[in-house]
Amino acid sequence: MTFQRTLVTTALPYANGPVHIGHLAGVYVPADIYVRYLRLKGENVLFVGGSDEHGVPVTIRARKEGITTQEVVDRYHNIIKDSFEGFGISFDVYSRTTSKIHHQLASDFFRKLYDDGKFVEQTSEQFYDPETQEFLTDRNIRGECPRCHAAGAYGDQCEKCGATLSPDELINPYNAINGNPLTKKETKHWYLPLDQYQQWLEEWILQEHKEWRPNVYGQCKSWLDGGLRPRAVTRDLDWGIPVPVEGAEGKVLYVWFDAPIGYISNTKELCDAKPEQFGSWETWWKDPSTRLIHFIGKDNIVFHCIVFPTMLKAEASYIVPDNVPSNEFLNLEGDKISTSRNWAVWLNEYLVDFPGKQDVLRYVLTANAPETKDNDFTWADFQARNNNELVAIYGNFVNRALVLTKKYFDGKVPAAGEFNEYDQSTIAEFQNVKAEVEKLLGDFRFRDAQKEAMNLARIGNKYLADTEPWKVAKTDMERTATILHLALQIAANLSIAFEPFLPFSSAKLRQMLSMTELQWEELGNINLLKEGQELGEVSLLFEKIEDATIQAQLDRLANIKAANEEAEKQEALKNWRPADIKENTNIDEFGKMDIRVATVLDCQPVKKSDRLLQFRLDDGMGGRTILSGIAQSYPDPSVLVGKQVLFIANFPPRKMMGIESQGMILSAVDADGKLVVTTVTAPVRNGSQVG
Ligand code: 2FM
Ligand code: ZN
Repeated sequence: MTFQRTLVTTALPYANGPVHIGHLAGVYVPADIYVRYLRLKGENVLFVGGSDEHGVPVTIRARKEGITTQEVVDRYHNIIKDSFEGFGISFDVYSRTTSKIHHQLASDFFRKLYDDGKFVEQTSEQFYDPETQEFLTDRNIRGECPRCHAAGAYGDQCEKCGATLSPDELINPYNAINGNPLTKKETKHWYLPLDQYQQWLEEWILQEHKEWRPNVYGQCKSWLDGGLRPRAVTRDLDWGIPVPVEGAEGKVLYVWFDAPIGYISNTKELCDAKPEQFGSWETWWKDPSTRLIHFIGKDNIVFHCIVFPTMLKAEASYIVPDNVPSNEFLNLEGDKISTSRNWAVWLNEYLVDFPGKQDVLRYVLTANAPETKDNDFTWADFQARNNNELVAIYGNFVNRALVLTKKYFDGKVPAAGEFNEYDQSTIAEFQNVKAEVEKLLGDFRFRDAQKEAMNLARIGNKYLADTEPWKVAKTDMERTATILHLALQIAANLSIAFEPFLPFSSAKLRQMLSMTELQWEELGNINLLKEGQELGEVSLLFEKIEDATIQAQLDRLANIKAANEEAEKQEALKNWRPADIKENTNIDEFGKMDIRVATVLDCQPVKKSDRLLQFRLDDGMGGRTILSGIAQSYPDPSVLVGKQVLFIANFPPRKMMGIESQGMILSAVDADGKLVVTTVTAPVRNGSQVG
């Protein structure tokens, strides 16, 4: 199939908070690189984005901030839009799913599938709060994580360990808003019968799209191998697009049903407003010669590769995506980025803290893009890549070429004499870069493509270091002219090669070289600048980032970590309830335990263990040693010396860290996990039995 146009979409971020580096690295920078590249090649491309303004995360934020849902989405839509603009994400349209056009289109889409009998209706039991008389969505249910036992895990995910959950798995589930315990109640919903499309999906993805990234293909295969089941596309909620069916009062379209339709609505909004410039939205979405590409993060794969294509297929008049380049996740200083835990580098804050350094972040996020596996963003790496690569290689080369030209040739592009063999080999080397970058960009390998562009700067930098025009100038001005002529041509090429990646720096470089924006096809041309052409003002393309700047960011993160730990502790305390009573036992079973009283003679941390304390006890029977895993709860274990404690005397001895432990000290576990050693209320003889 020869495609005539490319429609690029980026996941619509939830308007429940600002966007962060994870968004930028995973979705928006790669998509923007791709779109800028296609535009530079003169291709017909449309770049569609927008905010996802429905769904529970928005309602949760509204409650937290004490404002209305509309106020939340208005606030964050604008912050997000400004951040994207700030980073040069060059959308043709950036709209929102609360728009009238979207509500209409999504509603019509649902209605068409409904009228065509494409849904199945099912009644099922859902979590319900009898006091507020509300059904609860997964995000509004919290409880203890069944995997890591963190308090306050959500019904769909544990933010602490990252596990994907269903509300049924939570231990002691409760209403996240008011803490009420929950019951179950029946409710009716409409389901998209994915199982009926299984065969089509298998053919379309597993046979026809083997070229998709392994992480995307692999995830699809595992969903398909597991067998697809119908998925509810409606919810009991008061924020969203009302289900356009009689008898569905109080129900809205599931946010994951309406959000991807937002791509279509936003295209429609743009094309309807400027048809002469962008044509008809239906050409973009219904003509098979359109190539549709969705840029997303890995948590969105199933929705973009299975659910949305099934919706499009069921509707029957739309095209389906040609590729879905999805990235893995970016972590921050070793921990999962999280909006609700404020563990992120927020783009709006970065723009204030690092004015004019948008390209530095674009560069670092692409250099470290989580294309094949999760990656980590660290401030140390950010500083190193800026100082050692952007400043020391790209910036240094450009600066030397320009400053020397100002110095020796009055700021005018000098005439080239004959190129010698070394010049020729340099030219040949950098002319290879174009094909290499093209191949990599065509395969959505942005990280390697940027590396190749950087190689071009390396070639230039090496050329100047090797030819040393500042020395040659002492004896041979003709040769100096040739060297600087070629160096300036390489610099001009750099402005093209880096345009998709670092658009702000390319614009700045073009200004310094007094050149206009050129097409991609010119890359490799060594006659981009005319002899005698006057250069513009010279300034530094990149600036060194100092340690103090980085330390300020690290301090900020350390404060957030401390605040999160405190908040988690409070959450655990707030929602603590005693554990369920264990199965019945009897006096005979209890009688088997020999519990006694002893006085602590000595208590020390065990070397090389952050968990164990070593107790020396006077047990009234000659003394004994017991190891206990309570060190975290007793940073100063000497407070226990002289106290009487309870211990189990008839556990068989056990060696830990090379020390034999002769029993177990009894402790109570508090809501935050703190262990408190038990004692008697009045002194008794050591060795006395408890029963
Ligand atoms: O994961 C998210 O942030 C979703 N708001 C992405 C939606 S993508 C599309 F379907 F709109
Ligand atoms: Zn967990």
